[in-house]
Amino acid sequence: LGKKIIHKTSTKTTQQIAHQAAQDNAEHGTIIIADEQTKGKGRMNRQWQSTKGKGIWMSIILRPDFLPVMAPQLTLLSATVLADAIAEHTALTPKIKWPNDILINEKKTAGILTEMQAEQDQIQYVVIGIGINVNQITEDFDKDIQDKATSLQIQTGHQWNIKDFIQHVLQSFENSYDSFMQNGFPDVKYKWESYGYRIGEYIKIKTLHKEWKAKFLGIAEDGALLTKTDNDEIKKIYSGEIEWFMR
Ligand code: BTN
Repeated sequence: LGKKIIHKTSTKTTQQIAHQAAQDNAEHGTIIIADEQTKGKGRMNRQWQSTKGKGIWMSIILRPDFLPVMAPQLTLLSATVLADAIAEHTALTPKIKWPNDILINEKKTAGILTEMQAEQDQIQYVVIGIGINVNQITEDFDKDIQDKATSLQIQTGHQWNIKDFIQHVLQSFENSYDSFMQNGFPDVKYKWESYGYRIGEYIKIKTLHKEWKAKFLGIAEDGALLTKTDNDEIKKIYSGEIEWFMR
């Protein structure tokens, strides 16, 4: 990973550059990093604030040799990589909020956006977009996210070297990816659950047409969300949004 790194001082979104590069045959493990994104993209069409020099904004191109249905497992893997890297690098205690928000003290410090190009049940490439808030202070965040967002600086009280931290994330990513390719999903599932936010509690699950309440049990063997309804039915959820109840 990271044998080829494309660095931009400023760009709309590294995701776009990654897709372009992948379509131009960029090799597996190519990394696109920007100091600043003017149109950073979050999940569900949300925007991702990517202030210059304050965080890690990068996209990783992967060319895994497996089926598109396994892509969610890669996302969960990426979340464990970020949680590991933050825990090891800063000694903070991150949690992963399903599927892949990294929280510290209940506030979001990193997120992952997975985008895939597949044809006829064959993955062409996957772009894993990683955003980590590193050196922001509260006032650096837009007003409407100030109470939900945090950074390593806010949590530890001092600044972090972005380059060192990128190195750490890439190293962790490479190790975990190799082991995932060799050993499959079980270790990832186990690790994810060890960081899992509010496992065992009730959640509200919302899909396009309905919403219902269930207990959040963890992650299934295939990467789905595992739940138990009140009549003890175990159900796997593959898409939709979930919400936690107030404590
Ligand atoms: C989320 O939690 O909603 C996902 C956020 C992903 C942000 C990263 S920053 C690098 C890459 N480029 C983007 O525009 N988005 C991802």
